[in-house]
Amino acid sequence: MIYLNGNFMPIEEARIPVLDRGFIFGDGVYEVIPVYSRKPFRLIEHLQRLQHSLDGIRLQNPHSDDEWRSLLEQVVAENENDDQSLYLHVTRGVAKRDHAFPKGVAPTVFIMSNPLLTPPRELLATGAAAITANDNRWLRCDIKAISLLPNVLLRQMAIDAGAMETVLLREGFMTEGAASNIFVVRNDILLAPPKNHLMLPGITYDVVLELADAYQIPYEVREISEYEVRTAQEILLTSSTKEIMPITRLDGKPVGDGKPGAMFEQLYRLYQDYKL
Ligand code: PDD
Repeated sequence: MIYLNGNFMPIEEARIPVLDRGFIFGDGVYEVIPVYSRKPFRLIEHLQRLQHSLDGIRLQNPHSDDEWRSLLEQVVAENENDDQSLYLHVTRGVAKRDHAFPKGVAPTVFIMSNPLLTPPRELLATGAAAITANDNRWLRCDIKAISLLPNVLLRQMAIDAGAMETVLLREGFMTEGAASNIFVVRNDILLAPPKNHLMLPGITYDVVLELADAYQIPYEVREISEYEVRTAQEILLTSSTKEIMPITRLDGKPVGDGKPGAMFEQLYRLYQDYKL
């Protein structure tokens, strides 16, 4: 069952008008929230980021946090898996096509759930391949906007190259992945790019840095140059659906010794314990 504008229904029955501004302009924002053992993970943080995205596009939040919590819990309850991936989506609603904001229009609110398919053990054992590409997105990547065409094209470049993700470089520095945050390890120090308008402030990213703090893992939050990415000891990818993954090949070359490293192993174990 999904939730759409006040009603729960099977996804096959869900309909939105073609004039929805999400469809016409990509005028909306979204969240992806992992659910472990039927409990949304880091819900408060996801709702705070949703508010940041809504503020960024000047759209009033249609629900209070308590209302969101209740709607999300109902969608979780309606779906059979214990581990789920919640997708929440708000658009500026349905109006005659005009770029300017419409007046007096209710936003479209959609929530669905899919089974949470975290990376299989075999993939974690070998690590994934990534490519690099120029980050050609806009300058508000901190907004989790549904207009994802650049991300779609950048991710497809990786798939076409037989890789899993595209690591994005902007003016000589790494920003993030097409749909993930990226960490680099050098000299046994975890390096994280600073949160700013060039990347999505990842919820998993925050968890990783909190774990690093709690377990005295040395880390630095600072700009990471293309050279530092290309000569990294380890590269790690994080997202709500991928959790923490090792990137062991970059542009066809091995990262470090080409195997998942000690930093990955430690953070992966800590994350698995923490999420439950
Ligand atoms: N994407 N950066 C981008 C561009 C992303 O799309 C995502 C997540 C992240 C990681 O953020 P978080 O740890 O909060 O999931 C970083 C989601 C999973 C998606 O679009 O499906």
